Amino acid sequence: MDLKQFVAIVPDYPKEGIVFKDITPLMNNGEAYKYATDQIVDFAKDKQIDLIVGPEARGFIIGCPIAYALGVGFAPVRKEGKLPRETIKVSYGLEYGKDVLTIHKDAIKPGQRVLITDDLLATGGTINATIQLVEKLGGVVAGIAFLVELTYLNGRKKLDGYDILTLMEY
Ligand code: PRP
Ligand code: ADE
Repeated sequence: MDLKQFVAIVPDYPKEGIVFKDITPLMNNGEAYKYATDQIVDFAKDKQIDLIVGPEARGFIIGCPIAYALGVGFAPVRKEGKLPRETIKVSYGLEYGKDVLTIHKDAIKPGQRVLITDDLLATGGTINATIQLVEKLGGVVAGIAFLVELTYLNGRKKLDGYDILTLMEY
């Protein structure tokens, strides 16, 4: 299936000069959403994954159906101030800003094999921060899966040595 037909290209959002890749049409189409999810489940199924970890908010949309399909749990990574119990945090840069990501301290048990999911790899700041959170808690990053990769931003350079799947490249 050609998934790119379900990605809307929005120039100058959220700021002038940013070409936003909107994956909501893909989620809106049951066949496309299932197809994309199945591709990532295929990538994950021989990796002995114990847990899916995804950053707010679009990482949840990708990660939760995969957790369900694999029969494993999901741990949310959220922006600062959103998780109610004890957290650890990492700050990071974005294509259009800067932020802090957090995870509950008890979300990952040491040695657990984690698949990280998100909709899109841009500069790699979000996923690099997510990797740091997982590894600080003793998790093993067994794979990282995205729908979209913006290759012109070289985000992969920040993810050297990890097993990465992307379903579409721009
Ligand atoms: C977007 C996107 C990725 C991240 C990619 O999330 O969903 O998580 O940016 O950019 P990067 O590779 O440069 O870090 P955003 O922070 O806009 O949050 P949202 O999903 O809550 O909209
Ligand atoms: N996150 C960071 N950069 C993005 C872009 N260009 N489109 C959609 N999400 C993004």
